[in-house]
Amino acid sequence: MNGPILVFGARGQVGREVVALASARGVPIAGLSRQEADITNEVTVRAALDVHRPAAVVNAAAYTSIDRAEREPELAAAVNVTGPAVLAAACANAGVPLIHLSCDQVFDGTRKRPYVENDKVSPISVYGRTKAEGEAKVRELAQRHLIIRTSWIYGPHGRNFLRNVMKLAGERDELRMVGDQIGCPTATIDLAEAILVAARKLAAEAKVSGIFHFAGNGATSWYKFATEIVQRQAVFTGKTPKVVEIKLSEYPTAAKRGLNCELDSSRFRSTFGYTASPWNFRVAEVVASLISAANRKAAQAAAAATAAAPPPA
Ligand SMILES: NC(=O)c1ccc[n+]([C@@H]2O[C@H](COP(=O)([O-])OP(=O)(O)OC[C@H]3O[C@@H](n4cnc5c(N)ncnc54)[C@H](OP(=O)(O)O)[C@@H]3O)[C@@H](O)[C@H]2O)c1
Repeated sequence: MNGPILVFGARGQVGREVVALASARGVPIAGLSRQEADITNEVTVRAALDVHRPAAVVNAAAYTSIDRAEREPELAAAVNVTGPAVLAAACANAGVPLIHLSCDQVFDGTRKRPYVENDKVSPISVYGRTKAEGEAKVRELAQRHLIIRTSWIYGPHGRNFLRNVMKLAGERDELRMVGDQIGCPTATIDLAEAILVAARKLAAEAKVSGIFHFAGNGATSWYKFATEIVQRQAVFTGKTPKVVEIKLSEYPTAAKRGLNCELDSSRFRSTFGYTASPWNFRVAEVVASLISAANRKAAQAAAAATAAAPPPA
């Protein structure tokens, strides 16, 4: 590629995985946090493109608190609509292709089959509406772009369902989880790989563009996802809290959600030749890595406490 990949939102769970994976592979990449580049600030964004002269830009920055967005619609719109518009215009001006991330929440979740790229967007929450409007800005303003819609992201960093369940499983004897909402849990490492594969093709082939769905392989419910996490964690901790299945209607939230979040990723697979691993395969891997990181931290803290203790009299 002629120049690095430039990632905005590089401290988020997806952003940091993309930067880490590319760095480990020796692929030139630069990541900018919100503090280093606010995507709603045109001057900062243009300056970043001038400095880095990227071959492709990845927008991993977003306002992602679905329920909080209901009470902060302006802030959500600034990051999810104005931000992508600023990035798209700056990329068009610099002649750089843009990869923008979006989500299943652009749909209302009522379809009885997995959503495909051509399905009409029909958001039912503030967050979903801002993501749909952000997509529209990218399509309107960026000359060359890919919009990658994904769902139910989990990984070793940041706020996500897997880390939440692991924490709750350590604290409680019973977890209540929604069983009638279906989606495709997507590991950050698989999504990072998909973004790198797409960036390489986008930088090399002028005709690659449009919307693509990329999500974990296989659909499941939050209840089954949580059960898998608890079982994997129990291998290390021996603690198995009971997971109780409830309905989405029994779990009131500020934002409305539909029952079907399943995305069909076959267009991504046929265009880019890459598919995510089965979602439960990655769950085992991420749980194991988080447990060993916690064990390492505990051992270091114990060693530090021993070193700091006064010698016996
Ligand atoms: N999480 C999911 O389950 C999920 C599902 C489907 C799709 N997606 C989409 O996937 C993408 C990545 O999500 P994620 O889970 O990695 O999100 P995340 O962990 O919440 O990270 C988002 C990052 O964006 C940064 N950010 C917020 N406002 C910004 C601004 N104005 N300028 C620059 N950076 C800004 C945040 O900075 P701070 O750390 O300083 O707040 C954060 O580091 C998003 O487009 C999201 O909509 C996510």
